Amino acid sequence: MPLDQLDRPLRNLRVSVTDRCNLRCSYCMPEQDYVWLPREDILHFEEIEQLVDLFLDLGVDKVRLTGGEPLLRRNLPDLVSRLARRARLTDLALTTNGVLLAQQAALLHDAGLHRITVSLDTLQPDRFRQLARYDELPRVLEGIASAAPFFPGLKIDTVVIRGVNDDELVAMLEFGRHWEAEVRFIEYMDVGGATHWSMDRVLPAAEMLATIERHFGPITAIDEHSSAPASRYRLSNGVIFGIISSTTQPFCRTCDRSRLTADGMWYLCLYANEGLDLRQALRGGASIEEIRILLQSRWEARNDRGAERRLESGHRTSLIPLDTLRRDPHLEMHTRGG
Ligand code: GTP
Ligand code: 5AD
Ligand code: SF4
Repeated sequence: MPLDQLDRPLRNLRVSVTDRCNLRCSYCMPEQDYVWLPREDILHFEEIEQLVDLFLDLGVDKVRLTGGEPLLRRNLPDLVSRLARRARLTDLALTTNGVLLAQQAALLHDAGLHRITVSLDTLQPDRFRQLARYDELPRVLEGIASAAPFFPGLKIDTVVIRGVNDDELVAMLEFGRHWEAEVRFIEYMDVGGATHWSMDRVLPAAEMLATIERHFGPITAIDEHSSAPASRYRLSNGVIFGIISSTTQPFCRTCDRSRLTADGMWYLCLYANEGLDLRQALRGGASIEEIRILLQSRWEARNDRGAERRLESGHRTSLIPLDTLRRDPHLEMHTRGG
């Protein structure tokens, strides 16, 4: 199994199946309009399967389908069932905003999907509309209710923004307890399209813990060696939750993830400016063996640690100017799959 320059294996592949989204979360897609990937560039399911097989050869055993909003991709359950047939894939997961989940939960389960994470930042309808620009909280809640019985161990990802939803930590944990879902609080990151980011809008993990402790009493850190971005904690009532502290305590040293965009660009870091065009390789007639060698040599040369570098850089503002994002939509988080 190839290792990169920092001895990290490649275990985890995030496959974005579309760059389109039916919400406009302020930390991800705050602009009025976007430049979309050309339709003809979007990988067909057969192409995704070919690439996933190559990644399985390199040691990947976890695949997460992402977007934009992955449930907007037509016939997604078909892709799930194709991928679920691969025995080497021990974990097949999906990250969704939940808007279309109620109608698809059973289909996705029957297709062989293992796990679901739903992004949900507030339980207040007005705030939801302000944060995500559409009045979709009821459908997201319905989606969670429909998915919970099919997907035990459901996760809920909440991006916490100071002065916006930092008063909902306790309510989110109660909500998670109700559905037996693990809530993970995510620090607001200065990635891609987060053009409204500033450090004073970040609620550091340490502050989140202090607030939660004031309400629930002592918190126990769960000691585990894993490459997952979330640190996990237990409350005295047994509830387990996570914090993803990408901004103040990055976890690049154990990062075993890479990302494939819907048009087949491969990125080795959430913060990387450049990726490898695998669509061009596939459609331009490179042999599978040639692509395998290319993937392996790129992974072996990898020394990315984007979030750590951002932290070291000191004075931080939002990362990428708007005109640069427009020139290359691949720099956007919604293209890269979160
Ligand atoms: P699990 O397999 O359930 O642990 O999934 P996950 O935590 O890898 O996936 P999820 O899509 O739920 O990721 C949660 C969030 O963590 C993402 O939306 C990002 O905000 C953040 N995140 C994921 N991967 C990275 C990464 O490589 N670097 C950084 N800095 N943040 C990441
Ligand atoms: N900061 C933190 N997380 C983000 N996401 C997108 N943009 C950001 C950002 N600026 C992640 C969230 C969301 C997922 C789809 O993408 O985790 O739930
Ligand atoms: Fe929100 Fe996800 Fe859509 Fe970005 S891709 S706008 S985080 S729902």
